[in-house]
Amino acid sequence: MEHQPFLLLLVLLGFALVAFCSGQNQYIYHGFAGKNLTIDGTSKITPEGLLELTSDKNDLNGHAFFPTPLHFRRSPNSTVQSFSANFVFGIQSFYTDRSYDGMAFLVAPTNNLSTAWPDGYLGLFNISNRGNSSNHIFAVELDTFQNSEFGDISNSHVGIDINDVQSVNSSFAGFYDDNSGIFRNLTLYSGQAMQVWLEYSEEATQITVTMAPIDTPKPKMPLLSATYDLSTVLTDPVYIGFSAATGPVSTRHIVLGWSFGIGVPAPAIDITKLPKLPRVGTKSRSNVLEIVLPIASGMFIIIVGAIVILLVRRKLLYAELREDWEVDFGPQRFSYKDLFHATQGFKKKNLIGVGGFGKVYKGFLAASKLEVAIKKISRESRQGMKEFITEVVSIGRLRHRNLVPLLGYCRRKNELLLVYNYMSNGSLDRYIHDVENRPILDWAQRFQIIKDVACGLFYLHEKWEKVVIHRDIKASNVLLDAQMNGRLGDFGLARLYDHGTDPQTTHVVGTMGYLAPEMVRTGKASPLTDVFAFGAFLLETTCGQRPVKQDSQGNQLMLVDWVLEHWHVGSLTEAVDMRLRGDYNVEEACLVLKLALVCLHPFPASRPNMRQVMQYLDKDSPQPELAPTHLGFSKLPLMQNKGFNPSVMSYPELMTSIGTFSGLSGGR
Ligand SMILES: Nc1ncnc2c1ncn2[C@@H]1O[C@H](COP(=O)(O)OP(=O)(O)O)[C@@H](O)[C@H]1O
Ligand SMILES: *[C@@H]1O[C@H](CO)[C@@H](O)[C@H](O)[C@H]1NC(C)=O
Ligand SMILES: *[C@@H]1O[C@H](CO)[C@@H](O)[C@H](O)[C@H]1NC(C)=O
Ligand SMILES: *[C@@H]1O[C@H](CO)[C@@H](O)[C@H](O)[C@H]1NC(C)=O
Ligand SMILES: *[C@@H]1O[C@H](CO)[C@@H](O)[C@H](O)[C@H]1NC(C)=O
Ligand SMILES: *[C@@H]1O[C@H](CO)[C@@H](O)[C@H](O)[C@H]1NC(C)=O
Ligand SMILES: *[C@@H]1O[C@H](CO)[C@@H](O)[C@H](O)[C@H]1NC(C)=O
Ligand SMILES: *[C@@H]1O[C@H](CO)[C@@H](O)[C@H](O)[C@H]1NC(C)=O
Repeated sequence: MEHQPFLLLLVLLGFALVAFCSGQNQYIYHGFAGKNLTIDGTSKITPEGLLELTSDKNDLNGHAFFPTPLHFRRSPNSTVQSFSANFVFGIQSFYTDRSYDGMAFLVAPTNNLSTAWPDGYLGLFNISNRGNSSNHIFAVELDTFQNSEFGDISNSHVGIDINDVQSVNSSFAGFYDDNSGIFRNLTLYSGQAMQVWLEYSEEATQITVTMAPIDTPKPKMPLLSATYDLSTVLTDPVYIGFSAATGPVSTRHIVLGWSFGIGVPAPAIDITKLPKLPRVGTKSRSNVLEIVLPIASGMFIIIVGAIVILLVRRKLLYAELREDWEVDFGPQRFSYKDLFHATQGFKKKNLIGVGGFGKVYKGFLAASKLEVAIKKISRESRQGMKEFITEVVSIGRLRHRNLVPLLGYCRRKNELLLVYNYMSNGSLDRYIHDVENRPILDWAQRFQIIKDVACGLFYLHEKWEKVVIHRDIKASNVLLDAQMNGRLGDFGLARLYDHGTDPQTTHVVGTMGYLAPEMVRTGKASPLTDVFAFGAFLLETTCGQRPVKQDSQGNQLMLVDWVLEHWHVGSLTEAVDMRLRGDYNVEEACLVLKLALVCLHPFPASRPNMRQVMQYLDKDSPQPELAPTHLGFSKLPLMQNKGFNPSVMSYPELMTSIGTFSGLSGGR
């Protein structure tokens, strides 16, 4: 009895009905309401029938697969048949000029991609398996972020991907006009619906991709093609579906309709049956204005007067500095007005920290619903600013799950503002030193954060297109995100320091106890000076003490000497933070302490590089050996004051310098 009205409802929902066409190898979805897809992560089907792969969360991904596996081969040993797929999608970003990160249609051996990463990995791969032919994944990516490390050509491109986010062929998003043959660019993240046609030919082993705005019929000339025998890539059976990923800012990736054909063409999507994309931006003005206008005309003069006064005030309040050369950096530039409102006018109650370069405010960007940390740096040197901002922008493209994402900047007279994602759990030092009422971090959390920081630093040193030296590794520069992942912050600012000072004087910057001896002598930073600081960070985190302490007589005590002494007399476990009350993994803690001592070796050549550090921490290598020379360790000029300004030493917290972007690019 209950079935009757229920069935009726289903019929009424007909516009979103999936029609199973003749033959088992053709499927079509006009909307997804009530449809059985295998979805995970951020994916959901809205009541209107939109398949929303990602919505309002950053740094996450979502997938949606056809519920059953499919056979692309006639028999297990034959070649992959011709197939085709059409789909209509829309990407809606909170910004008009940027979006993170993209989506893909994919064919994969599994519907469980839970180990894949968001951001540039698009929810398809992760850092360790990308490029590996054991993935057996074929995908067409619609990518809205230019990851230069993956060879991306622009922030709006389409690519054919085989086992890797580095495409085998890619093109700017767009289409060739049928009449004129002229290429017309499309912006993937414009918020408008677009259609994609994907075809694979068994005979020619050719993949072609065509796209167009939703109201344009399929263009004759394909956008992109690649000759690749998918029989060598795909397993049998396979899962087909979609993946999408967000980065530091949330973006909506939506599929409206989808059809698919194996051995036969995919049925054409009837765009009139598709659900509508939600509106982006503000609603259009109503014509109430027209009625009110005659009445308002009387007040016109008063309003103009008020506006003039407001504009003048605004101009002074929100004044910014903009130069011609900055035009290239449009996407990463924030308006001062937005930042001013985000922090309620840089109110004191929004101040979350004071660092070496200036104050850090918490802010909320209303347009993108994003919490940010805004660093206000109040000194500016005219010369070198261009190079500095170029680097900040370039580093802003550098993204990794263990680095604090830099979203952009804003420039005013005598002031530079840097905008980072807000890390809700603050900096690590607050969990180690002034713990107040906070529970102390247990060993498992500390060890995970140590591995996170190592991973982030390894990326800076070896994985990006240039070698980036951080220059100021320490617990207060390790921030904890909502999931308590450790993320390195504050890279990229040392250049500001360099440009701001007289090039004749070399200035050693860094934090006491973290400075490698050769750095003190020569003032030159290198990846190995970072490793030294990383060693000091390991001790700080494991022992729960600062690298340098003052005793009651005002003498400086080096933590490393103390730990070394414990190692020497074979009581290394006594150096571990007492507040853990013995509740920790002894093997791991000893590994970390020994590794710290190796990293703190006074001779740079004796320190491991970050790749080796990662191997030790992953327990892929046997524990590091401490050489007997370590016994004389503390007698070496670890902290000799040559060329070192004594006032710097008494105010270690103030003299922070921040990572530099090194010109060492050829050096590895
Ligand atoms: N992205 C962020 N999210 C949350 N808090 C932050 C962020 N960046 C900085 N902070 C807070 O501001 C404080 C000062 O930051 P910073 O200027 O980086 O310090 P320093 O220069 O001493 O390294 C940090 O200790 C941290 O508590
Ligand atoms: C969805 O499809 C899967 C695979 O065919 C099946 O196991 C499951 O029962 C279906 N769920 C619903 C609600 O129909
Ligand atoms: C497929 O090929 C393998 C060897 O290449 C052979 O052992 C197997 O019998 C073949 N299976 C079929 C169904 O032809
Ligand atoms: C997906 O795989 C992971 C391990 O790789 C496993 O932990 C998880 O339970 C799997 N999820 C499903 C839904 O099978
Ligand atoms: C990457 O994915 C593979 C599965 O494809 C998984 O075994 C591995 O642990 C993942 N690696 C990372 C670093 O997440
Ligand atoms: C590819 O993945 C397989 C299985 O996960 C692994 O054994 C192999 O070492 C990987 N190859 C490379 C080059 O990473
Ligand atoms: C399309 O966009 C790309 C990158 O945004 C640009 O380089 C190219 O010149 C544009 N092409 C046309 C025809 O506008
Ligand atoms: C990439 O696609 C374009 C457009 O179809 C085609 O002209 C070009 O030959 C392709 N390049 C490769 C390497 O397949």
